[in-house]
Parts: sequence; C-alpha cells; structure tokens
Amino acid sequence: MTNSDQFHRNINIRIDLASIRHNLRCAKALAPASKIMAAVKADAYGHGLTQVLSALDDVDGLAVATVEEAMALRRSGENKPVLVLQGFRTVDQLHLCAEERLWPAIHDQHQLELISSNTTRELSCWVKFDTGMGRIGLHIEQAASVHRRLQAASVNVVGLMSHFANADMVEDISNDRQLREFNSIQWPDPVARSIANSAALLSRKDVQLDWVRPGIMLYGASPFNDNNAESLSLQPAMRVTAPVISIRDLKRGQRIGYGGRYQCDRAMKVAVVGAGYGDGYPRAIPDDTSVMLGNQRCPVVGRISMDSMIVDISALAVPPPIDYPVTLWGHGQLRVDEIAQRVGTIPYELLCGIRGQRQWIDAPNEINVRKIDKDLSTN
Ligand SMILES: Cc1ncc(COP(=O)(O)O)c(C=O)c1O
Repeated sequence: MTNSDQFHRNINIRIDLASIRHNLRCAKALAPASKIMAAVKADAYGHGLTQVLSALDDVDGLAVATVEEAMALRRSGENKPVLVLQGFRTVDQLHLCAEERLWPAIHDQHQLELISSNTTRELSCWVKFDTGMGRIGLHIEQAASVHRRLQAASVNVVGLMSHFANADMVEDISNDRQLREFNSIQWPDPVARSIANSAALLSRKDVQLDWVRPGIMLYGASPFNDNNAESLSLQPAMRVTAPVISIRDLKRGQRIGYGGRYQCDRAMKVAVVGAGYGDGYPRAIPDDTSVMLGNQRCPVVGRISMDSMIVDISALAVPPPIDYPVTLWGHGQLRVDEIAQRVGTIPYELLCGIRGQRQWIDAPNEINVRKIDKDLSTN
C-alpha cells in the first residue's frame, strides 16, 4: 500500500503494520481482562487512520478526537465502536453520532443542552469527568444531575471516563489522587469505566478497569522520558528516510548552514540530505543529533533548512551514493524518542507532524530493510 498525497517531497515513511500488531499484543498482555480502545486520532498518530486498521482487528473499539475522524472510519467500512473524545459540538454532529452509532464523550454542559432539546435516534455515549487534568470533562459533583438528564433523554451511557495529567510521571502523587476521585464517582446504573492511557497501562496495575485506551505505545514509542521504547519491548512502527542529494568536501574553518551555526574544526566530508523542517523534521534539532547511514550513526551539523539538512559523514569509509536513504528515525538503534528528547518535545509531536510519501508494509520486508541498511563500513 502506498499513498501519493505528499509524493512531491523526498521523505519516505515506511509503516510496519506487524510492529503495530506486536505492540497491541503487549497492551493486551498488560490488561488481559480489559477491553482495548485503540487511540487512532490525528491520523493514527501520523501512521494512517484507515491503513492501520488491518493491524487493529483485535481491538474492541477505536478512539478519535473528532466526529469528522469518526466519519472517516465509518466511510472506510469500519463497524467497531468508535469513541469520539471531543464529542459533538453541533446538532448536526449529535444526529450523526446517533445515526452512525458513534460514542461521543459528553464532557460539557452545552452537549447536555443539545441532547435535552433535540430528539435523536437512540444515542449511546460515554460521560467524561475532569479529575485533575483541567482540560475537558464535567465535575464529579455533577454526576447525579448528569445521570438524571441523560436518563430523561433516554441516552444509553456506555461508560464513565477520565484522563490522567501526569501518567508519564510515574511517581507523581496526582495520579493516585485522580484515580481515587474517578473511582469515587457514584453512578446509579452499572457502567464501564476507563482511565488508562499508554503511560498508565505501562506503569500501574490498578488502572486497567473495564477499558484501556492506549495510543502511543501501539505505534512503538515510549510515553516516558526516562524509559525508552526498547526497554518496554515495543517495536517502532514508523521509519523515516530521506535521500542524499549531494556529497561535499568542506575546508577547516568553513561554516555550515543558515547563521553559520557550525564551523568545521577540520576538513570534513558532508552529505546533504533532502529533507528539512518543511517535511516536519524539527528546525530546532541541535548539532550532533544522529541520523543513520546504514548501521552507522552520523551527526547533523548546522541548522536544519526547509528542504535539506547536512550530515558529517567523516566516519564512513565510503561516501554514500546520491539518493542513498538516510534514516531520520525508526532504525533499531535510532528511535523517535531520542530525536524528540533532543528538541525537548515528545514522540507524539514528531510522529504526527512528519509528512512524506507513506508506504504500509505488513511483514518485515527483509529485502527492503537490507537495501536501506546496505553497509557503509566505517573508517
Ligand atoms: C482522552 C485520551 N485517552 C487516551 C489517549 C491515548 O494516550 P496515549 O497516546 O498517551 O496512550 C489520549 C491521547 O492523548 C487521550 O486524549
């Protein structure tokens, strides 16, 4: 499978569906008694909303942010339960949720008013409570009145949900506080409960409840700063490569790139790689951030441009040929987690932001991998 929507740029994004399947098995092993709601919002964290579905056959439901994303799933023929995390904003969206059997999260008074003042087909929903995130969600003290209102409108409440603010900070006491608040919510009818994202699922046993909602771990990246994906046995699903477009010899003292940030401390051989911040690779990348040429790490030197970046290849015995695919992340030893840390962000942002020609592969394609990693023996 390939897409051609961004074909006019150089970046190649290879998405390995078998890795997503592996990561899903890890999630299931952590919460064997819970149902899994896979977070596929933001185009499945950049991995392709509908293209990843074949790797998610075994999940019980899908979670997206918007009604539009949910509709894209339905248009692709997806029949599984779909939780819409932001719920509906308008009457039209309320009707769509009912007609398409979507599960909107009810998190705002405005939604309760739309429900009370409009007749829809049978509607099923989740009720979202803010237990400390301070983003969207009803106050837990409102539970009884929300229950009455939804009951009066004959809305079927599938479950109650909340979201941790600091699940990636395992020791943070707010996690215990949020869980306690969530578990204390009184709801007169039996309903499912869900609070765990990847970080919570990976770090504690008391959060599994009826449904878990993993996202980032399914794509093989770590939600933690101090615990990389490899140590969590996750396999990166996305590999990003860009071609070498020029090989240059630079003299000692010569400056590299906009602002001349880097100055050669010796005569240097560099490769210019045809990708930059115009493709979603961060401009803030500092010198010494690695890319991979074959199995060799080589450092980026100088500021990242819109369409190109420069790499010190002095460590290689043979320079790569023009068009050689340089891995920006997703190689076994170079994970997106590492690149994110270099620029003080999180893997989520890089995975969602990278653009290029995407290719979905359903089994590790050994020939392809070997071709990409063709050895460039080191000096
Ligand atoms: C409400 C909600 N649940 C679950 C997730 C999945 O989180 P993660 O990707 O950290 O597993 C998210 C993502 O931000 C979310 O907003």
